[in-house]
Amino acid sequence: MNSDAKFWDRAAEKYARSPIKDIKSYEYTLERTRSFLPPHADVLEAGCGTGTTALRLAGSTAHILGTDISAAMIAIARRKLLEPDAPVNVTFEVAALDDESLPEGPFDAVMAFNILHLSRNLDAALAALARRVRPGGLFISKTVCLSDSPYRLLRPVLGLMKLAGKAPHVLFLSRKDLEDRVKAHGFEILETGDFPASPPCHFIVARRMP
Ligand SMILES: C[S@@+](CC[C@H](N)C(=O)[O-])C[C@H]1O[C@@H](n2cnc3c(N)ncnc32)[C@H](O)[C@@H]1O
Repeated sequence: MNSDAKFWDRAAEKYARSPIKDIKSYEYTLERTRSFLPPHADVLEAGCGTGTTALRLAGSTAHILGTDISAAMIAIARRKLLEPDAPVNVTFEVAALDDESLPEGPFDAVMAFNILHLSRNLDAALAALARRVRPGGLFISKTVCLSDSPYRLLRPVLGLMKLAGKAPHVLFLSRKDLEDRVKAHGFEILETGDFPASPPCHFIVARRMP
């Protein structure tokens, strides 16, 4: 099994119990995302974790497929679908961000929340996601940009934690670099913002150019 999948499998139950750190920022980006999702859209959320966001957005669109590299995360997400008032238009599948296991689509919108900074090859991940957005469709993401904050000083510490299996692989991105790379994959950026502001979790809404 891939080492990222193993890390996140071990983290899944604790991740599921952890409260969202900045609920105001979370609710705000959820609301902004809702405002862009067409009601009849077929949506992919890559790196959906335990499915919280997909389930919260289900009422705003036609179908959401949540995917994640971690079978343990997907098992928790699927458990939530068994609850009596769970939405019926959400499904969850194990799939890595940047290999052939990710369903092809194309989708009307692809979402990637708190995951791009974890990719081993950002351009490969963006290419894989861009390919799954239909021309004119949307890409909506949130990505922590540690290079734009004092947290960049933690890079050596995170490197050591990763060696000890206590932290995942993490990219240190700047907001400008991230936006430039999103644009280089054929998107025009419609909206950005930082929610929370520190360390900046950069929200990007982009449209795939025809
Ligand atoms: C920080 S959590 C974010 C989960 C969720 N999107 C959220 O905002 O709460 C990162 C998630 O990305 C998943 N992940 C990490 N690397 C991945 C990859 N290469 N492909 C797919 N999922 C991946 C992890 O299993 C984990 O569920």
